[in-house]
Amino acid sequence: MSQPFRHSRSQEPYNEGVLLDQHQRPLRDLRLSVTDRCNLRCSYCMPEEEYVWLPREDILKFEEIERLVDVFLSLGVDKVRLTGGEPLLRRDLPALLERLATRSGIRDLAMTTNGVLLAPQAQSLADAGLHRLTVSLDTLQPDRFHQLTRSHDLPRVLDGIAAAAPLFPGLKIDTVVIRDTNDDELVDLIEFGRGYGAEVRFIEYMDVGGATHWSMERVVARAEMLDRLTRHYGPITPIQETSSAPADRYQLPDGTVFGIISSTTAPFCQACDRSRLTADGMWFVCLYAPVGLDLRGALRRGSTPEALASLISSVWEARRDRGAETRLAERDRTPLIPIERLRRDPHLEMHTRGG
Ligand code: GTP
Ligand code: 5AD
Ligand code: SF4
Repeated sequence: MSQPFRHSRSQEPYNEGVLLDQHQRPLRDLRLSVTDRCNLRCSYCMPEEEYVWLPREDILKFEEIERLVDVFLSLGVDKVRLTGGEPLLRRDLPALLERLATRSGIRDLAMTTNGVLLAPQAQSLADAGLHRLTVSLDTLQPDRFHQLTRSHDLPRVLDGIAAAAPLFPGLKIDTVVIRDTNDDELVDLIEFGRGYGAEVRFIEYMDVGGATHWSMERVVARAEMLDRLTRHYGPITPIQETSSAPADRYQLPDGTVFGIISSTTAPFCQACDRSRLTADGMWFVCLYAPVGLDLRGALRRGSTPEALASLISSVWEARRDRGAETRLAERDRTPLIPIERLRRDPHLEMHTRGG
């Protein structure tokens, strides 16, 4: 085997036999979208009036999801994150979690939710064996929440966080920061997170599919966020870490930890060990990839686990994608995909690919 790939974030050498792509990145993290539906309409993700949904009959059944997950586990995946759309819209989700949680190969079973349906389900998610939870929350102001999401459900999200925080220690709160929209709330959100022992992560606004209102002017770069927080709190210390997670973590003078995901201005493609399976079984090896591999078709045509594994391996081994870095190199950036093309292929949407 060639020399293990080393980079600033992930210093772990990879074992012999691990499936590596063309940049020596292993396949480790599977983001599993369980529905493309969402009960919010965040302006950075679903700003349009109408959407084309995946056909119902194409949505993978739990048993099909499990069969595919088992193939991924056999290839080295050990982190699985349930996403959506909004994953809690999927009926009986705890039943799926319970079945996934029995897989010893899953070292980390996590979920990202918008929190609207969380409060009544938090206990059953914990009972089902979910390890970690991230809740998206972009503002603490009800009017602003309505403008951003076209929903009045902020109180339900806040109740969800209150219910989940004691059940999921290390709860994370994800905030997409947009200029002149919520960029004056960085301190308020850190203070809010601190109250629950939750780690707040600020995400740079990305020009992914679905972000049809994106412009570079509206991106608040990591450097600017750090600058503003330093002015408020005093010196901020970066935490040196060895992980492939997208967030850079920092410590305030009082020890409070927060993260920044700088996917737009400083992408983490070089350390990217993730891929995504949509709710209808299309597999994408990059958030920005224009096409995916149709695993539902292969599964429903009766492919064996070995045949599926070989299909997946051949795609991963050929993978060269560095989507966010490629975007960064582009001048005069405009939204990634025009709306007409999104309507023709909903797989290009961030809410279908799982955030
Ligand atoms: P941890 O394992 O807890 O660190 O989770 P995570 O950061 O992988 O998960 P989460 O779903 O919270 O992702 C946070 C955000 O990072 C997403 O909502 C996206 O904005 C961004 N992100 C996630 N995956 C990708 C990816 O593949 N590429 C890029 N460029 N950004 C991503
Ligand atoms: N930029 C950054 N993050 C996004 N998400 C969706 N759209 C975007 C975007 N344009 C992520 C957010 C949200 C999660 C579900 O998906 O982090 O919390
Ligand atoms: Fe918002 Fe997530 Fe729903 Fe997109 S999928 S509209 S980011 S809650």
